[in-house]
Amino acid sequence: MAEQQAPGESVLSLVGAAKSFGPVVALADGTIDIRPGEIHALVGENGAGKSTLVKILAGVHQPDSGDFRVAGELVSFKSPAESKAVGVSVIYQEPTLFPDLTVAENIFIGRQPKGRSGLISRREMRRQARELFARLGVPIDPDRVAEGLSIADQQIIEIAKAISLDAKVLVMDEPTAALSGVEVERLFGVARGLRDKGAGILFISHRFDEVFDLTDRITVMRDGRYISTHDTHTVTIDEIVREMVGRELGALFPKVEAPIGDTVLKVSGLARAGVFSNITFDVKAGEIVALSGLVGAGRTEVARAIFGIDPYDRGTVTLSGRTLAGHSPQAAIAAGIGMVPEDRRKQGLVMDLSVAKNATLTLRKKLARFGLISGKRERAAAEEWSKVLQVKTGSQDYAVSTLSGGNQQKVVIAKWLATEPKLLIVDEPTRGIDVGTKSEVHRLISDLAGRGIAILMISSELPEVLGMADRVLVMHEGRITAELPRSEATAERIMLAATATLEEAAR
Ligand SMILES: Nc1ncnc2c1ncn2[C@@H]1O[C@H](COP(=O)(O)OP(=O)(O)OP(=O)(O)O)[C@@H](O)[C@H]1O
Ligand SMILES: [Mg+2]
Repeated sequence: MAEQQAPGESVLSLVGAAKSFGPVVALADGTIDIRPGEIHALVGENGAGKSTLVKILAGVHQPDSGDFRVAGELVSFKSPAESKAVGVSVIYQEPTLFPDLTVAENIFIGRQPKGRSGLISRREMRRQARELFARLGVPIDPDRVAEGLSIADQQIIEIAKAISLDAKVLVMDEPTAALSGVEVERLFGVARGLRDKGAGILFISHRFDEVFDLTDRITVMRDGRYISTHDTHTVTIDEIVREMVGRELGALFPKVEAPIGDTVLKVSGLARAGVFSNITFDVKAGEIVALSGLVGAGRTEVARAIFGIDPYDRGTVTLSGRTLAGHSPQAAIAAGIGMVPEDRRKQGLVMDLSVAKNATLTLRKKLARFGLISGKRERAAAEEWSKVLQVKTGSQDYAVSTLSGGNQQKVVIAKWLATEPKLLIVDEPTRGIDVGTKSEVHRLISDLAGRGIAILMISSELPEVLGMADRVLVMHEGRITAELPRSEATAERIMLAATATLEEAAR
């Protein structure tokens, strides 16, 4: 049920905004209206144009056309500063604080409060910062430097800054992607508090549980166009998904039974002081083993040690019977290990290189068999995987930095799939990936297992773990607290092992 509303009711409205980059139409009809006192979700597949719309609201991009109003007044921002000045604050997934400055300095940068003498008063600045955090109910020390703060704390600081700027509209583009469950709850608490005080909030997420838990209305976009707006409590997930993808979806977890072969990866007594200890498990050819547990349990750290990025103090990693000697990713890759990292944007891509070059970075040796990399072969290899993963790009020759967030991730996955490793480690393979492509990624992982590749999958999404894994290992505080075969793995058992101490789990 799309609904109409009287004009003047909204604190921010954008109607029919368009934005092209050369031949690429990033946004054809960007339309959103945000009321005071509501949390409004913006959903759509990877590349639908959500972040482009956000950047127009933020004054980063100037739209080619469209009607843009804040509090009823027509606006046209030439810069992010102009957008901020009329009360629009945008919080990105990765906040951009100055690491050397203190928390308070980051909040008040460029507009430090003055004391009676007319000079900048650090004391006044600290007092105001402390007051802001008290209002938000979050204990952050205003005097500490920003360096080393968690992403979650950095986001809260950005929000504190928005409040101090008297933001009427707060926009959050995939803020929860890098947060743990507790941190998500805290962020939602802060967002609800601001809504109840009359702010309008725009919230972007690929997680429907969050969208339905937090928001009052949902706007759907597809292919750069506005599709509809719904009241959250009168619409179903199925309806939203249908509008987002505009087609029928395949099964979300198309697990195929693959014959299980010989042991490929064997990890024995792996330990790193203060991080993880006594990690022992194996993964066989054709098997998908999930490493489950809460964020911070040490799963990514174990994966990084196996792949040779981080050192370990004790234990061995064996691949197809050969113990890995060198603690380096080069040695791991040479032995046949591939890894799709958790933080794909930072660790997995060379932003200025083209899609084709990124997708084939790991393949260079193979493609260059005769000493030369032919652009044609490179493009053919890249195109094959890009097609399977439905990477949305104007051309394989475009720089990866111009792709949408989700599409950048698909390029990293393509890159590793193309190497056809013996063991593939995938860390949170579908985080930030839209529902349509999610089932594609699951199908691909299943297919790879079917071709005899051993898969070690780290995932915080229980349905994904339960749907995909032949065996589930659960970690808690650096230890493996449970090992469950597919037939015995349930959400309750996994959650118990992920939260209980070793003693309790053993009982
Ligand atoms: N600077 C740019 N140059 C060329 N194309 C761009 C640029 N910025 C965005 N695009 C293209 O515009 C389209 C929309 O991208 P956008 O980042 O808005 O998607 P999104 O909905 O935020 O997706 P995601 O869920 O993956 O973050 C994509 O096809 C993207 O490649
Ligand atoms: Mg985006």
